[in-house]
Amino acid sequence: MNFQLTEEQEMLRKMVRDFAENEVGPTAAERDEEERFDRSIFDKMAELGLTGIPWPEEYGGIGADYVSYVIAVEELSRVCASTGVTLSAHISLASWPIYKFGNEKQKKTYLYQLATGEKLGAYALSEPGAGSDVASMRTTAKLDGDHYVLNGSKVWITNGGEAEIYIVFAKTDMDARHKGISAFIVEKGTPGFSFGKKEKKLGIRSSPTTELIFEDCRVPKENMLGKEGEGFKIAMMTLDGGRNGIAAQAVGIAQGALDAAVEYAKEREQFGKPIANQQGISFKLADMATEVEASRLLTYQAAWLESQGLPYGKASAMSKLFAGDTAMRVTTEAVQVFGGYGYTKDYPVERFMRDAKITQIYEGTNEIQRLVIGRMLTKE
Ligand code: CAA
Ligand code: FAD
Repeated sequence: MNFQLTEEQEMLRKMVRDFAENEVGPTAAERDEEERFDRSIFDKMAELGLTGIPWPEEYGGIGADYVSYVIAVEELSRVCASTGVTLSAHISLASWPIYKFGNEKQKKTYLYQLATGEKLGAYALSEPGAGSDVASMRTTAKLDGDHYVLNGSKVWITNGGEAEIYIVFAKTDMDARHKGISAFIVEKGTPGFSFGKKEKKLGIRSSPTTELIFEDCRVPKENMLGKEGEGFKIAMMTLDGGRNGIAAQAVGIAQGALDAAVEYAKEREQFGKPIANQQGISFKLADMATEVEASRLLTYQAAWLESQGLPYGKASAMSKLFAGDTAMRVTTEAVQVFGGYGYTKDYPVERFMRDAKITQIYEGTNEIQRLVIGRMLTKE
C-alpha cells in the first residue's frame, strides 16, 4: 500500500493550486455576489489541459488518471466551489458517458470537443417531478424516421445555457420504468431545444443552474448514446464516478474553510492571547482537520479504484456522503471560529458554508447515498 502521490500528481496539484489562487480565487466573491459565470476561466482551464484530464490524447485529453482529476476539482473548490463543479460536471457527467458508451465517431467528435475545452458539457437527468426517483421521468423521445423527437423539460442543470453539449435522458418507452430510458447527445442550437428559468441559489452562485425545454426537438438517431433502453444504466454508472467528483468538491470547500480558520485563529487575540491558544478553539480545529483528511482519503481511494479498473461505486457513494457531511460541519465550525466576522462577507467562510450545503444534495442526496451503500452492503 502506498499513500504517496506520484510526481505527476504532485505537479498537477501545484499547477492547479497556482492557477486557482492567482486566477480563480481573486474574483470568486465578486462572481458569487453577481451570480456570474465566467467562461474565460473555463477557457484557461482548457489551455492548461484540465478539461480533458483523464482522457487519452487521441480524444483530446492529457492521459492522466482519476486521482489527478479529483485533485484538480479539490484545488479549484478550495478557492471557488462554482469553478470546481463546472469542471466536475464537464468531465464526470458530460464526457465520461461518451468515453464509456460512445461509438468511435461520437468520441472523435463530442469527447474530443469536450476534452480540449472547445465546448462545455452538461448532464440532464433531473426533472420537476423526478429528482431522487429517476425512473419516474416524463421527458419522451419518439422515433420518427432518422430522428428521435424529444418533448419535456429538465431542471437544475449545471452549466445549463452555457454548455454546448448535453447528455439528455428521455423515455423511449413510457410504459417501462427504468428499462424505458435512453440517453442522447444533444447540441445547443438544435431546433426545439431552449433554456428556461435560471435558478437563484444559496450557494455555488457563479455556476449556472438552468431549466432545459424540449419541444418537438429532433435529435439525429446517430446521437443516441449506447442502445435504446440503456439510459438508466448509463445514468447510474455515470453518477458512480460523478459522486466522487462532488466528494472532491466537498474536500476542497472544507480545506479552504479550515485554512482560513487556522490563519484567523492565529491572528485573532481575545483574553490576551491568540484564540488558537484557547483549547476550545484548537480542539475544534483539530477535529476539522481530521475530518477533512478522512474525507480526502476516501475520495482519493475511490478515484484510485476507478483508475485501477476495480469496482468503485460503493466507495464513491461513501466518499460523497462523508465528504459532503464533513464540508457542512467544517464550514459551519469555520464561521464559528471567526465569530461575528465570519457571518459577514468580509471573509470567505460564509461563502464556503453556503457552498458546502449543495454537496449534500446534488448527484443524489446524502439520504440516497445511504440507500445506495445500504443496497450494496446487502447484495455483497
Ligand atoms: N450501475 C449499474 N447498474 C445499476 C446501478 C449502477 N450504479 N444502479 C442501479 N443499477 C441497475 C440495477 O441493478 C437494476 O437493474 P435491473 O434492471 O437488472 O434490475 C436497475 O438499474 C434499477 O435499479 P434500482 O432498482 O436500484 O432503481 P431505483 O429506481 O430503485 O433507483 C436510485 C435507484 C439509486 C435511487 C437512483 O434512482 C438514483 O441514483 N437516484 C438519485 C438521482 C441522482 O443522483 N441524480 C443526480 C443528478 S446529476 C446532478 O445532480 C449534477 C450535479 O451534481 C452537478
Ligand atoms: P427529492 O427527490 O424530491 O427529495 C426531497 C427529499 O426527500 C430529500 O431530502 C431526499 O433525500 C428525500 N428522499 C427522497 N427519496 C428518498 C428515499 N427513497 N429515502 C430517503 N429519503 C428520500 N440534476 C441533473 O440532472 N443535472 C445537473 O447538472 C444537476 N445539477 C444540480 C445543481 C443544483 C444547484 C441543484 C440544486 C440540483 C442539481 N441537480 C442536477 C438535481 C439534483 O440531483 C436533485 O436536486 C437531487 O437529486 C434531489 O432531487 P429533488 O431535488 O427532486 O429532491
